[in-house]
Amino acid sequence: MLDAGEARRAFVETYGGEPRLFRAPGRVNLIGEHTDFNEGFVLPMAIEHSTLVAAREAPGRRVRVRSLNLDEAAEFDLDRPGEPRRGIWLDYVEGVARALEDGGTRLRGADLVVHSDVPAGAGLSSSAALEVSVGLALSSVSGSRVGRVALALAGQRAEHTYVGTMCGIMDQFVAALGREGHALLIDCRTLEATPIPVDTAEALVVVCDSRVKHELASSEYNARREECERGVELLAAALPGVRALRDVSAEEFERHEHLLPPTVRRRCRHVVTENARTLAAAEALRRGGGAEFGRLMYESHRSLRDDFEVSCRELDVLVEAASRVEGVLGSRMTGGGFGGSTVSLIRRERLDDFQNTVGALYHQATRLVPAFHVSQPQAGAHEL
Ligand code: GLA
Repeated sequence: MLDAGEARRAFVETYGGEPRLFRAPGRVNLIGEHTDFNEGFVLPMAIEHSTLVAAREAPGRRVRVRSLNLDEAAEFDLDRPGEPRRGIWLDYVEGVARALEDGGTRLRGADLVVHSDVPAGAGLSSSAALEVSVGLALSSVSGSRVGRVALALAGQRAEHTYVGTMCGIMDQFVAALGREGHALLIDCRTLEATPIPVDTAEALVVVCDSRVKHELASSEYNARREECERGVELLAAALPGVRALRDVSAEEFERHEHLLPPTVRRRCRHVVTENARTLAAAEALRRGGGAEFGRLMYESHRSLRDDFEVSCRELDVLVEAASRVEGVLGSRMTGGGFGGSTVSLIRRERLDDFQNTVGALYHQATRLVPAFHVSQPQAGAHEL
């Protein structure tokens, strides 16, 4: 876990005075991929990797921020918003500040130091960790209490308006509301979350970072979202109650899929079946049914690969390699796709074998060395 000492020291050195310290975690999604923006179900958990913000109120309406990871400093004026979508890290910081203010939270000027060990581009939501930790820090040093759901929504709004990714709510939600020892079954329509205990006595959650991130990720993401919306329009003509793919059952889909052009049909099939898998997986987790959970993970991966088409060769190699190791219950790509990480559920005593075998097979196929992290579910955003 990232030590707060460095962020604190950097703060004292840069601005002088004692800061308050805030943390928000990255996440791994166990199952329920590309369902959040279809008002469906997801099952993520917060992880050890996190973003720390050292912060203190400053006079006026100026926010100064230093990033230790990038070794860069920047500032902005809360009264004179900068251009959105500049493609720089400040988009996330300023985007959250703007989203909070647009939502009625009056912010004060502030000095910030940001430090993170969530690997960027690994599909572990480094951007949500940044948005939520900055949002918590800015509102707290301004003397405002912003609810955790509102904080998550501000992070999502920053993505939509300042960054330009039309993401769902999953990443920011679990960064804000994660629960130690639990995954969250989130209903992305009602924003209700049910914590489900993750028992790691026998089986471990292992994240495997492929170390590749393909350029397509953001444009393809927005394209998938549009294809899903097109599917809803076409299905709603036959099924009047349908507002989102969340409202379509597997049986209804089978009855009406002929109304959809082939690509849209595959996208929708993924979402409809993934929602059902996610609910079944949450139930299996509750009952301690690791084998069933794992089977659903493999199915989810196939659906993301063949129907939603957001996997890539590297992720497929990792999942295929995992499936060859005895004691692996399930494995799938996690997050948006086109690179990033897989998540696997494996019997505790098989960890070494898993890392050796998957590491070797992956290297053989790609010449790359993957990074493994064993994760226990962590708490969401908090002040230290
Ligand atoms: C990204 C987005 C999330 C979600 C996932 C796919 O992480 O930020 O909202 O859509 O992709 O499940």
